[in-house]
Amino acid sequence: MNNLPFQEVYDLTDIEKNQSVSVNLNGERVIICHTEEGFFAIEDRCSHANIPLCGGFIKGTMISCPLHGAVFDLKTGAVLAPPASEDLKSYEVKIEGTTISLKANSSNEET
Ligand code: FES
Repeated sequence: MNNLPFQEVYDLTDIEKNQSVSVNLNGERVIICHTEEGFFAIEDRCSHANIPLCGGFIKGTMISCPLHGAVFDLKTGAVLAPPASEDLKSYEVKIEGTTISLKANSSNEET
């Protein structure tokens, strides 16, 4: 169970469809992506060579790494295509008005 509060991080009107922004959430870089199915947030760090995913190509609810093309599921953080092999953390997204709030997904926690 994750009792952390949601934290307001961004204004959704500033993110065009199929674009992303990188924000700081408690010292972690998180990428917020505006997809056809809404807004999703995962770690902004490709697990292949630790470079930011921000600016990567977004298709549907997937993003590809701008460096070598690994693909990640924006809904879950799961890696879908190599060369990355490690899943990323995902974050819960809450929208109120035009404000985007995030918190770490409880499914990220080790049990
Ligand atoms: S750094 Fe992302 S695929 Fe290599």
